[in-house]
Amino acid sequence: MKKINIIYWSGTGNTEAMAHAIAEGAKGEDNEVKVISVDEAQLSDVEEADAVALGCPSMGDEVLEESEMEPFVESLQSINLNKPVGLFGSYGWGNGEWMIDWEERMEGYGASLINKGLIVNNDPEDDDIENCKKLGEMLASS
Ligand SMILES: Cc1cc2nc3c(=O)[nH]c(=O)nc-3n(C[C@H](O)[C@H](O)[C@H](O)COP(=O)(O)O)c2cc1C
Repeated sequence: MKKINIIYWSGTGNTEAMAHAIAEGAKGEDNEVKVISVDEAQLSDVEEADAVALGCPSMGDEVLEESEMEPFVESLQSINLNKPVGLFGSYGWGNGEWMIDWEERMEGYGASLINKGLIVNNDPEDDDIENCKKLGEMLASS
């Protein structure tokens, strides 16, 4: 049994929908999977997990959401991130730059990224949901 935590910020629910689909894929036979809004997340939710997914839409001007997700991500520098980490999030009109920056940053913090960040334009459609489930399965088998 693996402990998999999925921590996200979402303003209008698109990234949240991705988080729940990832959780569905991650459950497998008997994994313990939690979906946690970042305002309720602790560093221990990352430290204690076997694998983690982090989700945030593109906000501001191609950056992470600044009041809750950004400080949480910043704080990940202080812990050992040597475990499988998946990134995901929704975007609107941009080109996905926020995710590329986020991937580089997480690698700089020592994370073993299991995917190129999974990005979805606005609300996830059926094939996006399938890709989210696959990311969950990858987390479970990583
Ligand atoms: C304040 C604000 C800033 C945004 N900035 C960007 C941006 O820089 N690039 C982009 O592609 N989308 C941007 N968006 C669009 C969101 O990323 C998009 O609506 C996304 O689906 C929201 O996900 P959520 O439902 O999980 O909050 C912005 C949205 C808001 C409200």
